Amino acid sequence: MISAFGPGRVNLIGEHTDYNGGLALPFAIELGVVVEAEAIDGDHVHVEALDLGERDEFALREPERVDGWRAFGRGVVAELGAAGIELRACRLRCRGDVPLGSGLSSSAALETAMCLALLAVAGAGEPDRTELARLCSRVENDWVGAQTGLLDQLAALRCEPRSALRIDFATLALEPVPLDLGDWTLATLGSGAEHEHAGGGYNERRRECRAACEALGVEHLAHADSEAAARLDAPLDKRTRHVLEEDARVDATIAALRDSDLEAVGRLHDESHASLRDLYEASVPEVEATVERLTAAGAAGARMVGGGFGGHVLALFPPGTELPRGCLGVVPGPPAHLR
Ligand code: GLA
Repeated sequence: MISAFGPGRVNLIGEHTDYNGGLALPFAIELGVVVEAEAIDGDHVHVEALDLGERDEFALREPERVDGWRAFGRGVVAELGAAGIELRACRLRCRGDVPLGSGLSSSAALETAMCLALLAVAGAGEPDRTELARLCSRVENDWVGAQTGLLDQLAALRCEPRSALRIDFATLALEPVPLDLGDWTLATLGSGAEHEHAGGGYNERRRECRAACEALGVEHLAHADSEAAARLDAPLDKRTRHVLEEDARVDATIAALRDSDLEAVGRLHDESHASLRDLYEASVPEVEATVERLTAAGAAGARMVGGGFGGHVLALFPPGTELPRGCLGVVPGPPAHLR
């Protein structure tokens, strides 16, 4: 029996920058998805989603497309096949503890664990992890229908223990940044509003960013000129300003971490949230109420994480603060691996 783990992730800062060629600073968390796999006879793949109490079965070669959670297994199998990997018929059992629709990337946890499990069952060596991240991202884009970037998959596959990962999405240069918080605590709290990437605001923001790139004649919005961006029509001006300022906050956060100035990290969290709310317009009332609750409880900073429009809020608490009920402490964990 093979067992593979894929982690969820928290993005410390750098939101909606990945598909704009900007910077982000995620870390893999200890929560994730475990996929157990065993080879079977025949030419089908059986998938059991233990948490949902649902099953799927499909052909190993050229699986048919479907909606919902089943798209993940089919997409991973199809994309690994298209990459020339000779897969074997198998049974996959999946279970996880990353809350679904939370902005902690249960989907990248599932995709990466499935990939490692399928590769191991097939006796195939592990491909380059950045290539594997791209492959998982194609599953999201082309099979699940969410036009997400590479943030979650790179975080799940390339993060290092005890560190966050500075990712430059224009070059894919990666740099581990030690995450030593001393007695401070990072925690997330669900807002009660689930987000769903395959629909709604996320894909619309991507379209707006593409339109802004075309209007400005740049390949990556993160490299736009701020004065030219200010002359764009609304809302493209605001979207671009968020991307440029959020990008600067990533390196400001790294500098603050190096100086052990966690108050400053908290302030940058607050600024990031205000920008996501006012310029990127990716908040919802439940998220605002959660930010207020965390701030009232003593957080030095609080911000929405992930794609927005619901999901969890991340907060940084000074030593000795009593965390509000329901908070989930998050610490950096290992990247996706076989167990
Ligand atoms: C989601 C997507 C990522 C990224 C974030 C926003 O988590 O999956 O690719 O765009 O939203 O930073």
